[in-house]
Amino acid sequence: MRILAIESSCDETAAAVVEDGRRILSSVVATQIDIHKLYGGVVPEIASRQHIEAISTVVENALTEAKLKLSQIDAIAVTAAPGLIGALLVGVNFAKGLAFSSGVPLVPVHHIRGHIASNYLAYPDLEPPFLALVVSGGHSNIIKVDGYTDFTVLGRTRDDAAGECFDKAARVMGFPYPGGKYIDEAAKKGDAKAFNFPKTKFADAPYDFSFSGLKTAVINTCHGFKQKGEELPVNDIAASLQKAICDVLTDKLILAASETGINKIVLAGGVSANDGLRENVTAACKKDGYELYLPPKNLCGDNAVMIASQGYYEHMAGVTADMSLNASATAAIDKGIG
Ligand code: KG4
Ligand code: ZN
Repeated sequence: MRILAIESSCDETAAAVVEDGRRILSSVVATQIDIHKLYGGVVPEIASRQHIEAISTVVENALTEAKLKLSQIDAIAVTAAPGLIGALLVGVNFAKGLAFSSGVPLVPVHHIRGHIASNYLAYPDLEPPFLALVVSGGHSNIIKVDGYTDFTVLGRTRDDAAGECFDKAARVMGFPYPGGKYIDEAAKKGDAKAFNFPKTKFADAPYDFSFSGLKTAVINTCHGFKQKGEELPVNDIAASLQKAICDVLTDKLILAASETGINKIVLAGGVSANDGLRENVTAACKKDGYELYLPPKNLCGDNAVMIASQGYYEHMAGVTADMSLNASATAAIDKGIG
């Protein structure tokens, strides 16, 4: 079964064709980062307009790259939630038009379910059940994946996501948006013990995260140096911040694995491209004997192949939407959408 998928939840307009949920026939991603960089973050109105301008060409290119016509596509999958509402609506409406005109099913996909599915494309043998750590610009979750469409959230962030913490800290340190990858690079040259940044724990919710205190601590540290007219020890701050984030993510993930008895672990989302996190989790899994799946770096960020893959499993589970499908800025991963 060939699925054409569309992703437009944030600042990438993406389309892809995937066969049977696992074989990539094409993948096109048009990023808007250079435009949002000028403002230090994503401007929702600009994102929507950019999606409108890009979407026809991106979809057309995905079909051309796959050497297929629309009439050879068996279903259209689309990210319907969560994300920026105006941005999501562009993809949802375009997908509705394609599904209606070609008479094939329309399959709504949850963006975070998609991130998890990016691993199915890299690892042909990977199947649920497993435990997933999903870390992106908007989400930090530990999720029990019991089946392709069966999810239970074990841990969530109480405030900022890990990616948001990376990006906001990077901004005060003078890096361009999105700053996560610049922190990652600077951290390799710094001393992770230089600053003792806070690591939040909740007695009543051992898998929950909180990154706003850490973000504030880093911002205050940077302001302190600036007020004294001293040069920022950028590499040391980056290394210490990255260690604080990665230690918390790894410790809670391993605790969840040990307490649930699940021995297969999967990482997903933009922040899973972070080398410090990959090394940390790899070492912890090796030490405790867990099987680890890391998404390839080109599939960590937003793309449409992950939506096509998850769309395949949603379709197999009987999930389809009619022309009344709406986008939603928020949506629980364990409930159906559409
Ligand atoms: O999954 P994603 O592309 O979009 C959302 O769904 O949010 O994640 C984007 C986030 C940004 O915060 C970005 O800074 C972060 O992923 N990111 C990284 C790295 N590469 C991307 N964070 C830390 N280290 C990286 N190497
Ligand atoms: Zn994402």
